[in-house]
Amino acid sequence: MSSVRKAVIPAAGLGTRFLPATKAIPKELLPVVDKPAIQYIVEEAARSGLADVLFISGRGKSAIEDHFDSNADLERKLEGKADLLARVRATTGIATIHSVRQGEPLGLGHAVLCAAEHVGHEPFAVMLGDDLIDERDDLLRRMVEVQAQRGGCVLALLEVPHESIGMYGCAAIEPTDEDGVVRVTGLVEKPPPEEAPSDLALIGRYVLSPEIFDVLRTTKPGRGGEIQVTDAIAEMIDRPGAGGPVHGIVFRGRRYDTGDKADYLKAVVQLGCDRSDLGEEFRAWLTEFVASGRASGAPDHPIEP
Ligand code: G1P
Repeated sequence: MSSVRKAVIPAAGLGTRFLPATKAIPKELLPVVDKPAIQYIVEEAARSGLADVLFISGRGKSAIEDHFDSNADLERKLEGKADLLARVRATTGIATIHSVRQGEPLGLGHAVLCAAEHVGHEPFAVMLGDDLIDERDDLLRRMVEVQAQRGGCVLALLEVPHESIGMYGCAAIEPTDEDGVVRVTGLVEKPPPEEAPSDLALIGRYVLSPEIFDVLRTTKPGRGGEIQVTDAIAEMIDRPGAGGPVHGIVFRGRRYDTGDKADYLKAVVQLGCDRSDLGEEFRAWLTEFVASGRASGAPDHPIEP
């Protein structure tokens, strides 16, 4: 069984939640502390053994490719500044970068289908840029391992509060003989909580068998009028021999959501606290900030009587 070598990263979305920041800058390049969100994803791919990365790109997104390309002019200007030069150079050579345009924004399933030619007939990973996984939790590498053992597809699942399940794809599952690995018996995209088969949400890591492309070619628009990857995987479960079985890994590690503004702020704070160069100073400030009461809505400076 061939092992997973290629990662597909959908990056054609408009990023409207972050306007006006994303008016002229792809949302994937917004910094989380001092590194673009998408660099965390590409580093995770490489760390998990996936050295071939395909961006599903769109109009106005060419700066993403520039970010991972070398910039000889900048490097010349930084000569003698070893630290800065190292940071710039660390953006190139992480993985072999390719890109293909999505053209029309017809949904995540359609974005994945755009990868068909590049991926060919081998299992591959899909990584969604809004979900950052802490580098200490090697989720994707573990998914690749399970795919090599069991074949088919492997999905990342996270238990979320029941009232939040409607924001995610949701999995019906059965246990397997292995702790943390489940058999996925059904999937539904963003169900109302009362109809959800579980509180296990799909988070943005998938290892998929290439048969998904055949299924996606005939997948009808689903939730939101978009072609959903969740629907295509659900069809693979229902149709024996169509690229299954489908397993899930129940993730119990640290995930940072950068998809909306409040979660993005939380991600910056958490990752900032963990940084070896900034963390000490930032944590001390944060502790004082919380103690001042301002974090719970008190005014910045006590009002003098
Ligand atoms: C997409 C998927 C959804 C998944 C989510 C994870 O939704 O369609 O199944 O749970 O990513 O972040 P989106 O957040 O793009 O609406």
